[in-house]
Amino acid sequence: MLEKNILITGGAGFIGSHVVRKFVLNYPQYKIINLDKLTYAGNLENLKDVEQKDNYQFIKGDIEDTELLHNLFQDNSINGVIHLAAESHVDRSIADPLSFIQTNVMGTVNLLNAAVHHWHSATDCLFFHISTDEVYGSISAPHLFTESTPYDPKSPYSASKASSDHFVRTYMNTYKLPAIISNCSNNYGPCQFPEKLIPLCIHNINNQKPLPIYGNGENIRDWLYVEDHVAAIDVLFHQGRVGETYNIGGDNQWKNIDLVRLLCRIMDLKLGRSNSENLIEFVKDRPGHDLRYAIDARKIQNELGWRPSLDLEEGLKKTVDWYLENENWLEHVTSGQYQNYYQEQYFNR
Ligand code: NAD
Ligand code: DAU
Repeated sequence: MLEKNILITGGAGFIGSHVVRKFVLNYPQYKIINLDKLTYAGNLENLKDVEQKDNYQFIKGDIEDTELLHNLFQDNSINGVIHLAAESHVDRSIADPLSFIQTNVMGTVNLLNAAVHHWHSATDCLFFHISTDEVYGSISAPHLFTESTPYDPKSPYSASKASSDHFVRTYMNTYKLPAIISNCSNNYGPCQFPEKLIPLCIHNINNQKPLPIYGNGENIRDWLYVEDHVAAIDVLFHQGRVGETYNIGGDNQWKNIDLVRLLCRIMDLKLGRSNSENLIEFVKDRPGHDLRYAIDARKIQNELGWRPSLDLEEGLKKTVDWYLENENWLEHVTSGQYQNYYQEQYFNR
């Protein structure tokens, strides 16, 4: 299949916008359709540099809209899907689980139905479902999540993603849908919404506001620079084995407190300051907070030669530079519907 008409869902979000850019620029022979509802987390400013490209089209819409999906598949002969649209923030899922079930479960099943309906038993199509390591729950050191680690989701967000993964697998089994699932660790980099730990702390350090650390800061996450995740998505979309699951991770496990201290040191150097660590405040823990995520990415490394290109310190320096150079972006994305939640969650406790 040389000609591909690819539907990317959630392409105006953090990871999705990097995926869209890579596919639009690297594959001018493909047609890329970005379907995004533009929730608080979706921002077309992320894609200003590619919006005029001939092989790119943006459609504002909801993956729960069955008719819209059928028309999109039919009118554009869609033969590839990269599914990133989701509610993605764990804290929000604790406050409002139902919206996560709607988008992450119902929306995914709706998209699967459209693919099955339009693809029949075609073998030259691919449904690529982007998922998370959080489906595996928490794991004690020195163990790592492999592709066969049993699912044990612990938050409404991870339960909704686990459910969507199970639906993708049942569609592979029942309807012979050609699909791949990837489960990735924590991403960071340009254009990440400032409710997530790293952009929130960059913003607060810059503005000398408190850095809220949940609990004792001992929780461990495995960090991956977003462009490295996108490189993995690219290689899996083109060379991954259909029917398989692949873990993606940075082999960069850090305790939250150590990560925030490193960020303080990086920003102090850039801003000519010396005391950002004094902004750290230990606050009430996230309910049900998973202690440790750690990925074993040997399958994608050994089969496809993918490797992360940056370690955390290198990636953080690039990320900090981007946020300091793009303060307007931050201003813009925090000025709309997100404002109330942001104020309530992060400044008024
Ligand atoms: P994000 O919140 O930044 O972006 C999500 C995008 O989906 C937004 O543009 C939003 O407008 C869109 N969207 C939400 N509901 C929609 C709907 N009903 N219909 C159409 N569009 C909708 O998320 P992200 O961090 O870029 O994550 C993207 C995907 O990658 C998600 O599936 C997430 O579970 C997964 N993932 C994220 C990470 C991470 O660290 N951020 C790690 C592993 C996997
Ligand atoms: O592991 C992959 C997952 O990573 C993705 O599937 C999710 O979409 C993504 O949001 C991310 O989830 P986390 O909950 O790990 O990311 P977050 O940035 O919210 O938090 C990272 C860690 O920092 C976590 O242990 C909670 C903690 N934290 C977070 C915030 C926002 C704090 O201590 N203080 C904070 O203010």
